[in-house]
Amino acid sequence: MNFQIKKIDIKDVKTLYRWVNSEDSLKNKILTESRIEIKTHIKWIRKYLSDNKYNFIWVIFFNNERVGQVRMDGKKEEKVFVTDIFLDSKFRGRGIAKKAYQILVNKMKKNFMNYKIIANVKKNNKNSHAFFKRLGFNLVEEKKNFFIFKIDL
Ligand SMILES: CC(C)(COP(=O)(O)OP(=O)(O)OC[C@H]1O[C@@H](n2cnc3c(N)ncnc32)[C@H](O)[C@@H]1OP(=O)(O)O)[C@@H](O)C(=O)NCCC(=O)NCCS
Repeated sequence: MNFQIKKIDIKDVKTLYRWVNSEDSLKNKILTESRIEIKTHIKWIRKYLSDNKYNFIWVIFFNNERVGQVRMDGKKEEKVFVTDIFLDSKFRGRGIAKKAYQILVNKMKKNFMNYKIIANVKKNNKNSHAFFKRLGFNLVEEKKNFFIFKIDL
C-alpha cells in the first residue's frame, strides 16, 4: 500500500475545495451548510493557517492520489484540538482513514503531551461515531444536534 500523509500545500487547495463542497461533506458539517465560493475557501485556508500555529491540515495520499484530509484546530489555552476528517467516498471502508489518523495521533503525542482531541459529530453521522470509537475516542457529551467524542494524547 503506497500511503503518505503530508501537511497541506498550495497545490492541494483545489482538491480540498472540491471536497468541502461535496454533498456528504456539507451534510456532516455542524456550522457550514451551503456551498462555499473558491475565493472564500482560499481566504479561509490562508487565515486559518496564519492565525494560529496550532492549526494543522494534512492531506492523505493513496498511490500518489489525494484521497482525504485531516484537520486539527488547536486551542492552546485549553490544551485541546478540535478535529475533522474527510475521506473521498471512493476510498472509504478500506482502513485508510483509520491508519492515517493513528499515524497523526502518534505524531502529535510527541509534541502535545497532555492535550486532548475532540470531535464534534452530528447525531445522524453513525459511520463517524463508529470511526472515532474504533480509534479509542469516548463519547463525553451530548449537545442538541451533535455528540462530543474525546481522546487524551
Ligand atoms: C469518517 C470517515 C473518514 C471514515 O473513513 P473510512 O475510510 O470509511 O474509515 P476506515 O475504513 O478507516 O474505518 C475505520 C473504522 O471506522 C468504522 N467505520 C468506518 N466506516 C464505517 C461504516 N460505514 N459503518 C460502520 N463502521 C464504520 C469501523 O469501526 C472501522 O474500523 P474496522 O474496519 O477496523 O472495524 C469517512 O466515512 C468520511 O469521510 N465521512 C464523511 C466526513 C465525516 O463525516 N467526517 C467526520 C466528521 S469529523
